[in-house]
Amino acid sequence: MFQLQFGFKTGTFVSFLVILAAYFYKRQTNDSDVLRNRLNNVLSGLLRAERQVALGSEPKVAVGFGACLDVIGDAVDVLEKLGARSPDLPEHFNELESQEDLEKVFAYFFRHGAAAERYIKNITLFMHLVQATRDVKNSREKLGGNAPMMATRFHMEGCKVLLGGKLSQQLRKQIAPEILVAGGDVETDDIHVALEYKKGDVWGNYVTPRSNRFFFHNDHNNPFLTSLEQFSQDVALFAPALLVIGGLQMLDNFPFTKGKRRSRLRKLHGLLTSTPRETRIHFEMASFAEQECLEEVVDSVVRHVDSLGMNEQELPNLHGVLTNGSITLISDAYPRIATTLDHMRAVYSILSRPADGQHGLTRLHVHTLAYQAIMTAKSSAWKHSMSAAAKAALTANRYTCGSDYIEAEKARILMDQSFSTSHVKGSKRIHFEPNNPVSCWDEPGVEICVAPVLVCTKVVQTGGGGDNVSSAGLVLQI
Ligand SMILES: *[C@@H]1O[C@H](CO)[C@@H](O)[C@H](O)[C@H]1NC(C)=O
Ligand SMILES: *[C@@H]1O[C@H](CO)[C@@H](O)[C@H](O)[C@H]1NC(C)=O
Ligand SMILES: *[C@@H]1O[C@H](CO)[C@@H](O)[C@H](O)[C@H]1NC(C)=O
Ligand SMILES: *[C@@H]1O[C@H](CO)[C@@H](O)[C@H](O)[C@H]1NC(C)=O
Repeated sequence: MFQLQFGFKTGTFVSFLVILAAYFYKRQTNDSDVLRNRLNNVLSGLLRAERQVALGSEPKVAVGFGACLDVIGDAVDVLEKLGARSPDLPEHFNELESQEDLEKVFAYFFRHGAAAERYIKNITLFMHLVQATRDVKNSREKLGGNAPMMATRFHMEGCKVLLGGKLSQQLRKQIAPEILVAGGDVETDDIHVALEYKKGDVWGNYVTPRSNRFFFHNDHNNPFLTSLEQFSQDVALFAPALLVIGGLQMLDNFPFTKGKRRSRLRKLHGLLTSTPRETRIHFEMASFAEQECLEEVVDSVVRHVDSLGMNEQELPNLHGVLTNGSITLISDAYPRIATTLDHMRAVYSILSRPADGQHGLTRLHVHTLAYQAIMTAKSSAWKHSMSAAAKAALTANRYTCGSDYIEAEKARILMDQSFSTSHVKGSKRIHFEPNNPVSCWDEPGVEICVAPVLVCTKVVQTGGGGDNVSSAGLVLQI
């Protein structure tokens, strides 16, 4: 009897376990099926939206400024080769002079996974850094700089392109021969060192929460916008549909003689204000740490363009300078959509009221790791926001994964099932639909589109991603 009862109990217990195991197995396959389906639906939805629009006949695009040779290496390897030690206390300095400064500033951004770009004053230190980067395994060298990146992207999309920048014969060979170059030659190109890192990389006490990169430079040409005069002349003849300005972060913290930076920016301001209204102007923001520099850029450039592109770090920085006159060095690397949209509305309302007959903001594109957000004035000439947001989102994956073909297995979606459009009480919630992944809606005077990014889980590169993404978003809208 006892025996039997024991047997019965064991039997029940075993079958209970089997059912439990089956349930969990099923639930697991079920969950991962659901996720995979969702991903595939989002991917085909984005591809559909991207394909909806074809490029008109060879639009003309002019892009300035600067060019350089990018020397790229894995951050932790380079720091090790350099004999750098991870600091106890990360710190930010505007002037980088010693290796200790470099260690502290790198750690400052690395622990947040925030993109940054800094001038190194000490040439000896900079050359050590270049050498260390060249010496690590997986080190690469290629044409770099915002303007050449964006110019190449516009060319690949079928635009006719004029690039403003001085570069060596050797670097010129890396630019498609169809791209016109205004600016002339230099003997040696400015070098930018890109230290790339992947989510989860460890340096001393710090683990980075997302893949990103840190650029260091010691430029001699780019901060002076040496191609500006030639470029201005050629732009007038070229009569582009779109004039794109980028690379101005090279002026940040550069030791100019007094008034030099302002005078170069005033000259650029002259180009922008004399550009006919039919030519729309886009400015690509970047990482600025020097308040005075950013304020000068805002006054001479940002207030005189039709379109702005920037990432999740640059938006709060611009917002801060416009609203309370202070620099924001670091912000959340994963901002909520509501936060981003609230900042965008504030920036837009400040910059969208141009003086009569002047250029003024009618388009704002913010790229983050998880999503793309594009805001356009309803009355403006910008077209196809939904497709543009989709294309920007797809480009982000293609770039970081290093392949034109997007594999759902190497991607994940960070966007929630629904999102709030603002932190203001009672704001609209938008339900995210995998089959129609780009959400667009109207608000007073503007249309807003938000597209999810299929975040690459096998990152190949990050530096230069913003240039590709911004250009991809722009090209369908001109
Ligand atoms: C997934 O689970 C549900 C119940 O939770 C079940 O009805 C459905 O048949 C399962 N689908 C698959 C493919 O296992
Ligand atoms: C410049 O860098 C070199 C190499 O790291 C270092 O030896 C030197 O002390 C630095 N100079 C200053 C002023 O910090
Ligand atoms: C990004 O742009 C560069 C040129 O600037 C190009 O070589 C590369 O193929 C682009 N990548 C993607 C994924 O569009
Ligand atoms: C200024 O604005 C920024 C960005 O919106 C914010 O993070 C910062 O706290 C503000 N600073 C002050 C002093 O109000």
